[in-house]
Amino acid sequence: MSDAVLSQFKKAEEEKAVDATKKLRVGIIGTGGIANAHMQSYKRMPDVEVIALADIIPGKAKAFAEKYDLPDARCYSSHTEMLAAEELDAVSVCTYNATHAECTIACLNKGIPVLLEKPMCVTLEEAVAIRKAEKESGKVLSIGFQPRFDPNMQMIKKIVESGELGEIYYIQTGGGRRRYIPGSTFIEKSTAGIGALGDIGCYSLDMVLNAIGYPKPLTVSAYKSDFFGKNPEIYPIDCERFDVDDFAAAFIRLEGGVILDFRISWAMHMDTPGDTIILGKKAGLRIPSTDCWNGSVGGPMTIYRDVAGVCTEFKVPILGGGGNLFDKKVRSFLDAVKFGGESPVPSSQIINNQAILDGIVRSAELGREVEINIPDID
Ligand SMILES: NC(=O)c1ccc[n+]([C@@H]2O[C@H](COP(=O)([O-])OP(=O)(O)OC[C@H]3O[C@@H](n4cnc5c(N)ncnc54)[C@H](O)[C@@H]3O)[C@@H](O)[C@H]2O)c1
Repeated sequence: MSDAVLSQFKKAEEEKAVDATKKLRVGIIGTGGIANAHMQSYKRMPDVEVIALADIIPGKAKAFAEKYDLPDARCYSSHTEMLAAEELDAVSVCTYNATHAECTIACLNKGIPVLLEKPMCVTLEEAVAIRKAEKESGKVLSIGFQPRFDPNMQMIKKIVESGELGEIYYIQTGGGRRRYIPGSTFIEKSTAGIGALGDIGCYSLDMVLNAIGYPKPLTVSAYKSDFFGKNPEIYPIDCERFDVDDFAAAFIRLEGGVILDFRISWAMHMDTPGDTIILGKKAGLRIPSTDCWNGSVGGPMTIYRDVAGVCTEFKVPILGGGGNLFDKKVRSFLDAVKFGGESPVPSSQIINNQAILDGIVRSAELGREVEINIPDID
């Protein structure tokens, strides 16, 4: 089927009417950078009213309300104050990583569904606490990985599930850049908890783990460093504040005998640590994915396969029609809340992603391989 025909179906799907007779009362916790993307999406949803905003920085929530012309939205100086005063149908948790767990658990304990920004949190212990609160509440919790809604990202999973590659035994993923440390609240343990790992590493992990069905991680041997963020010649403005990772590499064993070789960089003396490759017993897949956190693959993917005993390769064309990935992430969450559906990006999967990040930090700090034990919550 041609792309043009396919995109007609996609358009019809996107234009599915939303019943706006009853508005969902939504709150946003944390009105910093990413809250803007949540707000812009909510504004495009006819069945949503953002009625409450919270930020611990005095005046920040109010300024946000003014920016988005929300004169009736009530503003609070903490998530606890907001949750005590409001009856809400859903909340976006848009705080920095270090407060993801406490804000999400507080919402779930009040019976409010949550769209939680990525990474899920900072440690595996926090992820377990979130999962427990989610289970007790029975409410929807979705984690904010919008690249999941990109047709090319979805194609990676389809290729794996089609059996084209055969049994997968080795994956190399990650990526990164020669120089770009984001600054702001991303570079301190007290706010971000982790650096490049949580900012961009979690996306590369989600891309491949989602494709292969999110097997449990078993062990990790890892390394992390901070040579660039702490170097006044390279990062003069904020090197004094910098106390997270700007580079990490890890060798991870997954359930089912799959090996995951991972590296991520905010800064290094190299252009890229390479594409993502997935090796199966029948074929291999190369994914130009240096910036997969921007929502898609970096170019056409290649499949390497023997045909009649000859080594061949062919390109998988780039698929269009992705639309606004952020709107899709928000809409899928709202639909799960309204119609009682499954979480679109479930914490039962993302806890494995978080367990790897946690294992990388532990292993790097101990200087040896560590086991990963994820308590059974279900
Ligand atoms: N999905 C994406 O594309 C994407 C992009 C950028 C950032 N993010 C994620 O979004 C999160 C926030 O990033 P950001 O750039 O918006 O950070 P930010 O620092 O600009 O904003 C976070 C805000 O949360 C507030 N806050 C912290 N704890 C709070 C609490 N307990 N109650 C109320 N407010 C609280 C802070 O005061 C701050 O204003 C991070 O986890 C980041 O990884 C996701």
